[in-house]
Amino acid sequence: MTTASANDRLDRLTDYPFTRLATLLSGITPRANVEPTVMSIGEPQHQPPALIDEVLRANAHLWGKYPPVAGTPDWRAAAADWLNRRYALPAGLFDPETSVLPAAGTREALFQTALLAVPERKNGQVPAVLMPNPFYAVYEGAGLLAGGEPVFLPATRETGFLPDLDALDPELLARTALFYLCTPANPQGAAADAAYLTRAIALARQYDFVLAVDECYAEIYLDTPPTGVLEVAAGLDHGGQPWANLLVFHSLSKRSNAAGLRSGFVAGDPTLIARFSRLRSYSNAGTPLPLLAASAALWRDEAHVLENRAAYRAKFAAAEEALQGRYGYYRPAGGFFLWLDVGDGEEATRRLWAEGGIRVLPGAYLTRSLPGEPNAGAPYIRVALVHDTETIARACSAFPRILG
Ligand SMILES: Cc1ncc(COP(=O)(O)O)c(C=O)c1O
Repeated sequence: MTTASANDRLDRLTDYPFTRLATLLSGITPRANVEPTVMSIGEPQHQPPALIDEVLRANAHLWGKYPPVAGTPDWRAAAADWLNRRYALPAGLFDPETSVLPAAGTREALFQTALLAVPERKNGQVPAVLMPNPFYAVYEGAGLLAGGEPVFLPATRETGFLPDLDALDPELLARTALFYLCTPANPQGAAADAAYLTRAIALARQYDFVLAVDECYAEIYLDTPPTGVLEVAAGLDHGGQPWANLLVFHSLSKRSNAAGLRSGFVAGDPTLIARFSRLRSYSNAGTPLPLLAASAALWRDEAHVLENRAAYRAKFAAAEEALQGRYGYYRPAGGFFLWLDVGDGEEATRRLWAEGGIRVLPGAYLTRSLPGEPNAGAPYIRVALVHDTETIARACSAFPRILG
């Protein structure tokens, strides 16, 4: 078959950021005797909780069953209880029967949200899919492959690392089908506050688009728990439809160091969740029952999450000590990334790999160039603080030696 008859939208995507990184670093061999330290990917290296194995073993008799799209009542209750606890939702407001679905991590549900939300035309025009710039690559892929037009909203230091909602053109909003918002943001770590989320919810309802809030870093923070869109929505005057136009995405990948479990959920507007269930009946394999049982146990356990947060505090302290405010270092409100202004992110990435065996990601690979402007992410590198404190201290203290 020739590619001429294939879905040519795929060709409009750039290579995935990690593919681009592999290309950038191919042919560069780190100096002899340096142990490679992979800080490019947001994959927590802490031990996953022992609970996972225990519950999987106890539920091994369920591997023979096909899992239901909506998960099990026990899993739904665990996810809803966690949302109620984490966001202090008013009792009974969140209905586990109608408002949540399991997903294989947030990634695939975020991707599918575009299939759910993007119509052929929105108000007679090409539907826009808004996303911050820089952004998680899946948003762009999803928007494009669903037939929408990805629209990149600057999320720079000047805008507080979140899109400026007041700068949105009403004509653009009128054709917006979907708005991906990430809080705490990857890569910058900015967290939207209640006023920001209130404004975003109001826009979604006024212009009738889906506000998809990616909160997969919500449990990784140093001091103050980042605000969630559901807690803000619960406090608004909602006429009995608190989650209208909203979808929120949570994951055990970062919260529970269990990226390989592939377990998360999508929650929110019951009308959207019902349509999502319909979509997923056709497209998804479902989350296996033993995995749902393990996931329920993880959502119910806070001890490992507290331990995790203490570990991240130590990591940030080590990075801070090593960097001494260089490269515009700041403490993110959430997540585990450093977003460092090193002048030329690609060049810094090459040098860190060649001279220190340290693999980071150039900011340009997470950021689109906007017409007539330089790539706003090009001066940056993203550094994932996912290793143990000692490794992080060692790697970060090599930065000034290598980068100056
Ligand atoms: C912003 C953001 N959203 C979603 C994901 C997907 O994570 P998962 O599918 O493991 O929940 C990631 C993973 O790194 C991410 O950085």
